[in-house]
Amino acid sequence: MIGAARYRTHAAADAAHAVGDPVRVAGWVHRRRDHGGVIFIDLRDRSGILQLVFHPEQAPEAHAAAERLHLEDVISVEGDVVRRSDDTVNPRIPTGEVELAVRALERLSETEPVPFSVEDESTEPSEELRLTYRYIDMRRPRRLAALELRARVVRAMRRVLDDAGFLEVETPVLTRSTPEGARDFLVPSRLSQGEWYALPQSPQLFKQLLMVGGLERYYQIARCFRDEDLRADRQPEFTQLDVEASFVEPGDIEDLTEAVLVACFAEVGIDLPTPFPRMAYAEAMRRFGTDRPDLRFGMEILDWTEAAGRTEFGVFRSVVEGGGVVRGLVVPGAGEGTSRKDGDDLMAEAQALGAKGLVWVAVQEDGSLRSPVAKFVGGIATDLGAAPGDLITLVADSEEVASDVLGTLRVRFAERHGLVPDGAWAPVWVEEFPLVGWNADEDRWDPLHHPFTAPHPDDVGLIATDAGSVRSLAYDVVLNGLEIGGGSIRIHDQAVQAAVFDAIGIGPDDAEDRFGFLLRALRLGAPPHGGIALGLDRLVMLLAGERSIRDVIAFPKTATGADPLTGAPAGVDDAQLSELAVRSVAPPPAADS
Ligand code: AMO
Ligand code: AMP
Repeated sequence: MIGAARYRTHAAADAAHAVGDPVRVAGWVHRRRDHGGVIFIDLRDRSGILQLVFHPEQAPEAHAAAERLHLEDVISVEGDVVRRSDDTVNPRIPTGEVELAVRALERLSETEPVPFSVEDESTEPSEELRLTYRYIDMRRPRRLAALELRARVVRAMRRVLDDAGFLEVETPVLTRSTPEGARDFLVPSRLSQGEWYALPQSPQLFKQLLMVGGLERYYQIARCFRDEDLRADRQPEFTQLDVEASFVEPGDIEDLTEAVLVACFAEVGIDLPTPFPRMAYAEAMRRFGTDRPDLRFGMEILDWTEAAGRTEFGVFRSVVEGGGVVRGLVVPGAGEGTSRKDGDDLMAEAQALGAKGLVWVAVQEDGSLRSPVAKFVGGIATDLGAAPGDLITLVADSEEVASDVLGTLRVRFAERHGLVPDGAWAPVWVEEFPLVGWNADEDRWDPLHHPFTAPHPDDVGLIATDAGSVRSLAYDVVLNGLEIGGGSIRIHDQAVQAAVFDAIGIGPDDAEDRFGFLLRALRLGAPPHGGIALGLDRLVMLLAGERSIRDVIAFPKTATGADPLTGAPAGVDDAQLSELAVRSVAPPPAADS
């Protein structure tokens, strides 16, 4: 055990094995109870909780000192570990069969009243308060457990990759803009005034340079920075397990990633079956309406276009005649509970997601249909395999809108109607992403991943003529509907790279200007290479059963990118700005509250 004997000889949890021995333990006053003379204190350290007993007769001095203790004071105590009598054993804590009869107490640190209870986890303070006092929050077992799990997961990753001959290499944080598609965080240079570093959105370009450098197998637990709108699964700075290897094809990276994930899941006692299923992007979009399908439940998107085109329902006919589709979901068992008002709410929900409307059909016990458009949709239950009691929802629109809306509704319905099985894990590889996507605002093709992603060898010939139909060698690993990692094989052939730049409207001068250093390297002996990055925060969030990545990051930012603990971001002195030759045109910030 780490710790000077002056403070402690045992961790609280280990003291349980030291019955009869004199021990010293140190930690925080977690809970106290005064039982008419005898004082009981639960002492907490990282290992757990140990009950201390202070007897007024046997140790009057320690007892008197214990009377003056506050919750969360830091103390060191010496005494004998004794077995509790049968009627006082506490089966809820691992050390519940013993207690420490204290002979001497030293208070190491006196604590002011804490802003919220550590001991009572039933009341959850606001997140703002928890983050302002994160160091109190992390004393709570649930927070501590998340950080411990995170450390174990990282250790498991390193173990697998070290054993497979990967080298851990650090790459710069002060660097040039990397093309991951988000906004950069910029850092002004003092030495070259008017010039800026960008914080890396990922180590992408450096890991490719490492492959040109002959390292062959690289990994890094890398901090990445992206200035984008935040959500429960997004932070402005987050951590990736970043991996790159030479002389590989997608299957090699996928196998390696599976081995890493299996080791991570073993840390929480779960045996993740491999190989993961693999699904082409186009199939994922068609069946699940998203490139991150949640395969824990079925309820796939079904197509009713052909029949809808033959109905007398004007909305459907005109959409089908216009080249659109009519697609829907069958929600098991949700028909009976759906009232006309619920149906209106569903329609409004679909419209908020971008649909023009939504048709709902409840299949009744006798097989008849209850729906505002019942007379137009005869036969639909049979066509879509809906059983009595089920609810059918239909959206008529372009294929893209219908998929997107139904993909979102599918996940919401599953949660709403309890169709997501508890404790299920459903990983899947999504592959063959399109190389580019149409950017309607800018009227051009943009890379879907980044501009160095290799096209599928069968589609190289289409780059110049039909860029939109070119598949790439990119792959994402999706777990329970969350994208936890993504990567690709990179272009190492300069003719292909030039064709891709051309297709996405990056001219030779522009390319030279933005990525000249990488392109030069790729001309100087680039092995075929590819890799992946796993979102560590997201993975640990899933493993820990948390709903936000903030819960598995020691010091996260709020949804507005602020850190209530330190007060970052904050103003700086004019002197600092002028040293950097930077002037702020923002209105002066409101006085610090
Ligand atoms: P990509 O941009 O897909 O790929 O990122 C990889 C993984 O990182 C996680 N992630 C995030 N996690 C938390 N907060 C964020 N803001 C955030 N953004 C991304 C996701 C995602 O799957 N250089 C490429 C990888 C490669 O091609 O090898 C890259 O960064 O889980
Ligand atoms: P309306 O013709 O707008 O009165 O719509 C009649 C019904 O069709 C309503 O229940 C609408 O929600 C539904 N509806 C309208 N447009 C669509 C559409 N594109 N897809 C599915 N249902 C629609």
